[in-house]
Amino acid sequence: MQRVVCPGSFDPATNGHLDIISRAAGLHDEVVVAVLVNITKKTLFTVDERVDMLREVTEGYGNVRVERFHGLLVDFCAANGITAVVKGLRAVSDFEYEMQMAQMNYRLAKVETLFMTTNPQFSFLSSSLVKEIAQYGGDVSGLVPELVLGRLRARLTQE
Ligand code: PNS
Repeated sequence: MQRVVCPGSFDPATNGHLDIISRAAGLHDEVVVAVLVNITKKTLFTVDERVDMLREVTEGYGNVRVERFHGLLVDFCAANGITAVVKGLRAVSDFEYEMQMAQMNYRLAKVETLFMTTNPQFSFLSSSLVKEIAQYGGDVSGLVPELVLGRLRARLTQE
């Protein structure tokens, strides 16, 4: 059983994340999407909301489950029988930080990192940009799943 993890903040999940998760699901027995619980970081959606959205948008995949984690990713991997992290690389600018984390995770616990190049149609996409554009009334349809689009609109009209 080859179980991998797609970790992140997912505030909120984008179609770029979904693309990586679905491609990872096609290559591995099981994909655990791990949502970071970070109490020091201000997020638009609570961890429960982020987990719920991810569960709904990935329910069509029989081999994807969504969990939350706090602390070190390598500890979450050890506790869940996960041997590798799957990450999407959008551009060279992602590479430096991602390589540093990958090497540190290997150094800490021999956890491997597998990099997937993102679909070019999502290479400019990030959760922060989606939030910023949506906050100023810009159109983010096609960049996030329909469910996330609805929750974004609802959250931003509340504010
Ligand atoms: O979506 P993000 O915020 O870019 O995801 C970053 C994430 C969650 C993958 C990274 O911050 C992480 O793994 N955090 C857990 C704490 C940890 O293990 N830190 C050491 C990394 S070498």
